Amino acid sequence: MKNNLKKMIVLVGLMGAGKTSVGKRLADCINVGFSDSDKEIEEAAGMKITEIFDRFGEEYFRAGEARVISRLLGKAPGVLATGGGAFMSKDIRTLFKSSATTIWLKADLETLWSRVSGSQSRPLLKGLNPKQTLESLIKVRYPIYKKSDLVINSHANISQTHIVNKIVQSLETSKILIRQT
Ligand code: S3P
Repeated sequence: MKNNLKKMIVLVGLMGAGKTSVGKRLADCINVGFSDSDKEIEEAAGMKITEIFDRFGEEYFRAGEARVISRLLGKAPGVLATGGGAFMSKDIRTLFKSSATTIWLKADLETLWSRVSGSQSRPLLKGLNPKQTLESLIKVRYPIYKKSDLVINSHANISQTHIVNKIVQSLETSKILIRQT
């Protein structure tokens, strides 16, 4: 099936919201390419994200993140999963406004925690109380994530198939995705 996707679909949300796994399924479902900004940053830097944070700090990581996202937005419309901090940048949000549709995968603290506890690959959760850090990030970030074009619940009890179907429906309704059979 060939589809016509008018804009890049960008998935936004906290660590553990399901951006990468939902993003891959969504891309498969509508037959478009998938990219993951974290993975692309690691490839460009030749290092894991934890190593970038350890050696050069968060500010350096954020500058690389902005460059990579701006490059990925130049690709043919597809699905782009972003790291949880990307949407906090006003410059990145401005880029998204002009060339993408943003979707916030919204999940509650317990859902996020069940997915990221024990993760060694997330530098922001390396402190003494990672669950409390996540809770603080929810407070700071959710008011900004709310600016996304679309909000989809991604709590633990909702299947990924259901999430993908809801996204596809919304994209079709808003004529961002035109399905051709
Ligand atoms: C971050 C989230 C991570 C990664 C980096 C910073 C954040 O991506 O970009 O560790 O600031 O929330 P995921 O949201 O894919 O885990």
